[in-house]
Amino acid sequence: MIELRQQLQEVAVVPVLALERPQEAAPLAEILCEAGLSMIEITLRTESALAVLEAMATAQPQALLGVGTVKTAAQLRQAVDRGARFAVSPGFLPAIAEAAAALKLPLLPGVASATELMAAQAHGLDTLKLFPAQAIGGVPLLKAFHAPFPEVAFCPTGGIGPDNAPAYLELPNVVAVGGSWMVPRDLLMARDWSAIAHMARRAAALRPGSPPQPQTKQHDDQTPPPSHHFSAAGEEDPGAGLDETGRLS
Ligand code: 3PG
Repeated sequence: MIELRQQLQEVAVVPVLALERPQEAAPLAEILCEAGLSMIEITLRTESALAVLEAMATAQPQALLGVGTVKTAAQLRQAVDRGARFAVSPGFLPAIAEAAAALKLPLLPGVASATELMAAQAHGLDTLKLFPAQAIGGVPLLKAFHAPFPEVAFCPTGGIGPDNAPAYLELPNVVAVGGSWMVPRDLLMARDWSAIAHMARRAAALRPGSPPQPQTKQHDDQTPPPSHHFSAAGEEDPGAGLDETGRLS
């Protein structure tokens, strides 16, 4: 059983995925892991979510995969069977906490108020997701929670991106941030793996203590570069990218 707080602290950024096409699971998992984002939440928001989870677990067995958007206790067992090693819920429900404990599955439940936080603590949980973080108060709310609840660590999620993530990550009660920004839907639909890899590397570099990423003149975190591939000699190589099995070539 993983130690959730420690794992979150190690990665600092958790991609939150909602994949519709299982065939994208393996290449995306490879890209995220290579970038250093090896703790991944796969939300139960698409019909394919469990198939995606299983495909990622098969393709990247060393990745730490979790199931997200858990709203019923029954969803946990299925996810564990497909490879989930932690679970994330948008809110806190005692029934889900009890089922997760019975399965020895680390749970990151969402809270949005002091009352919910205290209910989670009463179930032995002190590493919590703040959700939806930006909409309910973001950094000032986390600062306000720190005085009465210094023992609680948060993974804020919801409305976080490269611009505001650093302000969250420098708070003493934030161990990681979650978000979907590094896998934009349009790039995923276009299977623009090169651009997603760029964004994933930039997201991984938000981890405190990471070496600074070179800045490009034309592109920032929100604007990935065109998906051109270059050979070792610096010449454009239209054949590079992912091979037919979805592996990076
Ligand atoms: C979600 O609700 O999907 C997660 O919290 C991620 O939120 P985001 O898309 O705003 O990053």
